[in-house]
Amino acid sequence: MTKKKYLVTSALIYANGPLHIGHLLEYIQTDIFVRFLRLIGEDVIYVCADDMHGTPIQVNAEKSGMKPEDFAMRFHQEHKNDFSKFLISFDSYSHTNTHINEKFTNLFFETLRKKGYIYTKPIFVMYCPQCKRFLPDRFVKGICPKCGAPEQYGDMCEKCGATYNVFELKEPKCAICGAKPEKRESEHFFFRLSAFSDRLEDWLLQNKELQPEIVNYVKNWIKQGLNDWCISRDKPYFGFKIPNAKDKFFYVWFDAPIGYISATEEFCKKTGLDVFKDYWKNDECEIIHFIGKDIVYFHFLFWPAMLMGAEFNLPKAIYVHGMVTVEKEKMSKSRGTFILAREFIERFKEPEFLRFYYASMLSKKLGDVDFSEDEFKHFINAELIGNVANFCYRVLSFLNKNFASAIGSFSEDHHVITECKKEFNKIKEYYRELNFRDAVKHILKVASLGNAYFQKEEPWKIVKKDVYKAHETASICANIVKNLAILLQPILPRFSAELEKQLNLSGLKWDDLGFELKDHTIGKAEIILKKIE
Ligand code: 2FM
Ligand code: ZN
Repeated sequence: MTKKKYLVTSALIYANGPLHIGHLLEYIQTDIFVRFLRLIGEDVIYVCADDMHGTPIQVNAEKSGMKPEDFAMRFHQEHKNDFSKFLISFDSYSHTNTHINEKFTNLFFETLRKKGYIYTKPIFVMYCPQCKRFLPDRFVKGICPKCGAPEQYGDMCEKCGATYNVFELKEPKCAICGAKPEKRESEHFFFRLSAFSDRLEDWLLQNKELQPEIVNYVKNWIKQGLNDWCISRDKPYFGFKIPNAKDKFFYVWFDAPIGYISATEEFCKKTGLDVFKDYWKNDECEIIHFIGKDIVYFHFLFWPAMLMGAEFNLPKAIYVHGMVTVEKEKMSKSRGTFILAREFIERFKEPEFLRFYYASMLSKKLGDVDFSEDEFKHFINAELIGNVANFCYRVLSFLNKNFASAIGSFSEDHHVITECKKEFNKIKEYYRELNFRDAVKHILKVASLGNAYFQKEEPWKIVKKDVYKAHETASICANIVKNLAILLQPILPRFSAELEKQLNLSGLKWDDLGFELKDHTIGKAEIILKKIE
């Protein structure tokens, strides 16, 4: 039997603007999970990409006088850079405008078409005679037909929440140039989503990994009846041309999730594995997607249906998280609460602070996650620095100073050892269930146990009278430091690696948890993290 594999993804970010702390929640959540799986010895890869196609990118590229390829590529490079600063450990990070992605997109299209899941029919679309382009709903603005609010989008009213069809909008205007759009007829390709209703429902109900709240509302969508999905767009469009169709392009949401497969293929090319046999058609492979709650429809309906139709594996889990708010409100540029990834680093210096803060709030629940600057600073200073980092430095520098950096021996029957050991399996379970909030709580408990023990034994006082006792205390605490370096690895990989180095150890894994580190010489203690001013 082949060993189980994991393929984990985060959603593909649009190459249409800089990375901000709202985006980072998902990548940090996924990365912690992936690093945890690696730490316990699982065979896992983490793949992702930039989502490059579609009208918004094309329009923004034009506005800045660039070709859409170049415009998107610039953000692709910038995103890669920012992700690496936040220690997001992708095994493959691609983008959707590649030959490989075009090849897989055509493969899906041809396979689905041959099986009768794709058909064409004429529909009406808004067209701007001034811009000479067809307009997606979001590029038409006008008066809400239900409540009369001005300046609403073509698909829904943000004032009254009504959804409608773009032709119902009163006094429609092109959102790009302001001209009055026309209604034009055009032949389009449709994916027969309706044919998958039963299979999608079975998959939803049988899959115990899916979050119940999500299953419930996706089930309702299915019950209300699924509409077939228009997967083509007219030129000019930044995307892949549909083979043998004049001036038609694949809609961005058709080739975007296929990007998960293309990014896997790029990893396979580097490593000599097979994208189908090892991953997308391997029954022993668990595919796990992480997404935000705004793109549930695409991932729970369109994407699994495409995979079913083309006979690929279905995701084993799709974990949905809430959105990031800043000071309890939606991030906003005008209120100054829109924090870019780069600005975060400029202001707070340490990307791991954000990882730790987000981890302390994340669970499998869908609730939003709030970034409050005061709470953030307080939590980092009190817990990460005050509790964890100070303890580690205190213990290791004490060993440096008083015992020529040597960890000595000690007996196992100390209360603090039993208490710490009780936490390890709990923390493992919390990580596995994506309950990072409780993982953090219990890791902090281990640090508190260490602190309380060190404080109570006062080795710095008794070292003159009872050298053995003082050395025993410090050696036990050095083992707690080592355990913290392991327990924190998924969340704080750099801090952990630094501790590992100071402990003069390498390659620590989950199985190295325990109190076996004796008669060992450590390296020089150094302060790793400093308080936020
Ligand atoms: O909503 C978004 O930001 C999309 N770019 C997500 C795509 S995820 C995947 F399906 F490609
Ligand atoms: Zn226009």
